Amino acid sequence: YFGNNQANQLNGKKVLITAGPTREKIDPVRFISNHSSGKMGYALAAEAKRQGADVVLVSGPVQIPAPSGVEIVKVESAEEMYNAVLTRFDSADFVIKTAAVADYRPKITHDYKVKKQAGDTTIEFERTKDILFELGQRKTKQILVGFAAETNNVEEYARKKLLAKNADMIVANNVKASGAGFGTDTNIVTLFKRNGTMTELPLMSKTAVAEKIIEEITALLKEMNK
Ligand code: CTP
Ligand code: CA
Repeated sequence: YFGNNQANQLNGKKVLITAGPTREKIDPVRFISNHSSGKMGYALAAEAKRQGADVVLVSGPVQIPAPSGVEIVKVESAEEMYNAVLTRFDSADFVIKTAAVADYRPKITHDYKVKKQAGDTTIEFERTKDILFELGQRKTKQILVGFAAETNNVEEYARKKLLAKNADMIVANNVKASGAGFGTDTNIVTLFKRNGTMTELPLMSKTAVAEKIIEEITALLKEMNK
């Protein structure tokens, strides 16, 4: 008996997961990025695979190996991640967006290393595409799960993201809480669903958080009779 955690309950399901940071190039030697380690997304990919799903993991640059049996698509920039995700979206049953996508990129990427000079104290930025938002506009059958890394007002911001991005669930974490967020092997998350429910989970390993999230998605798939 495996409870509702059978090894094959996602057989035949196609899952698209994004993980890690993106890198936005300034020039050939410099980039803008963030502290995302990729651990949460890789744990989700491993768990979905363990439950029998076909998993594609679109990953920014991280230091951890791909879980076995998972198809990995390596990307660097937000634009590359957008293209990798959009071309694979139609066939997916569910999508989990753990990636910490850069919101801005330098307006100009220089072909040669920029030399320092007097008065050059600013870089001009432009917005990247919001991948999750774009998926929310295009979704047909797909269940969409987003993450929200916050430092304050977690519930308010998470609920706003749930609606603004047309997601089915937002997994929010307070990255300032100890034992949560970037680089750690543990996380403290709260799940927000479209029916308004909020589930606060205690400090757990990222593997256990992944199990719980996959369990919630499986329940959503069942609700949709899939
Ligand atoms: N996301 C995305 N594409 C972006 C930015 C964010 O797909 N260009 C996704 C993330 O992968 C995550 C969710 O949107 O699943 C929320 O990301 P977050 O950075 O918390 O929210 P933003 O909407 O970018 O808002 P802000 O950073 O201003 O809080
Ligand atoms: Ca953001």
